[in-house]
Amino acid sequence: MRIVFIGPPGVGKGTQCERLAAHLSVPHLSTGDMLRSSRDANVLDPKIAATINDGRLAPDRLVTEMVIERTNRPDCADGYLLDGYPRTVTQAIWWDEHLSGDSMTLDAVFHLDADREILIERLLKRSKQQGRVDDVRETIERRLAVYDERTDPVLDYYRGRSNLRTIQADQTADEVFEALVDCLKPR
Ligand code: AP5
Ligand code: MG
Repeated sequence: MRIVFIGPPGVGKGTQCERLAAHLSVPHLSTGDMLRSSRDANVLDPKIAATINDGRLAPDRLVTEMVIERTNRPDCADGYLLDGYPRTVTQAIWWDEHLSGDSMTLDAVFHLDADREILIERLLKRSKQQGRVDDVRETIERRLAVYDERTDPVLDYYRGRSNLRTIQADQTADEVFEALVDCLKPR
C-alpha cells in the first residue's frame, strides 16, 4: 500500500499515519519528522533549518531526494504512508515521475480536512505539551497560509489522477481512523 496524506497543519496526519502504519504494517514516513531530526542532529543547512522553523517550505529537490532515499530502503518494499509529502505541485509531479519510472502507482491519496479554529486550537494545545518551535500563533498562521498557497493546489493535481478521498478530521481520532480504514476496504 502506497498512500499519501495531505492536510493542513494540525489536522491529524501524524496521528492517523501512526495508527494506520501499525494497522497495515508499513512504515510511516513524515518529511516534517525527517527534517526536524536532521535539524536537531545539526546536519541540515542552517538556512533550511531557519526556513522550517519559520513555517516556510524546505526546497522541493532536497525533500524529494530525502523521500526517494527513504522509500528505497527494504522496509518500504510493501509500501509506506507519506505524511506531508508531496506538499507542492512540483513535488507531486516529481513523485509521479519517480513512481512511474519504477512502474509503481499510488493506492490512495487521503485529504484530511478541518476548520481553521480547530487546527489552531489543537496546535496551541500541542505547543504546551511538545514545544515544537513552529507551534506559536504567528508561525501557525504562516503555515496555514503556505498550505493554502502551495499545498491546496496539490489536491487539484490529484483530482482525477489518483484515488483522492477527503475525510473530515474534526471528529475524534477514533472516528477519523475508522473512516480511513473504511476507505481502504475493497468495494
Ligand atoms: P510537518 O511536520 O508535516 O507539519 P504540519 O504539516 O504543519 O503538520 P503537523 O505535524 O503540525 O500536524 P499533523 O497534521 O501531523 O497533526 P498531528 O497528528 O500532529 O512539517 C513541518 C515543516 O517541515 C513544514 O512547515 C515545512 O517547513 C517542512 N516540510 C515538511 N514536509 C515538507 C515538504 N514536503 N516540502 C517542504 N517542506 C516540508 O495532530 C496535531 C495535534 O492535534 C496533536 O496534538 C494531536 O494529538 C491532536 N489531534 C490529532 N487528531 C485529533 C483529533 N481527531 N481530535 C483531537 N485532537 C487531535
Ligand atoms: Mg505531523
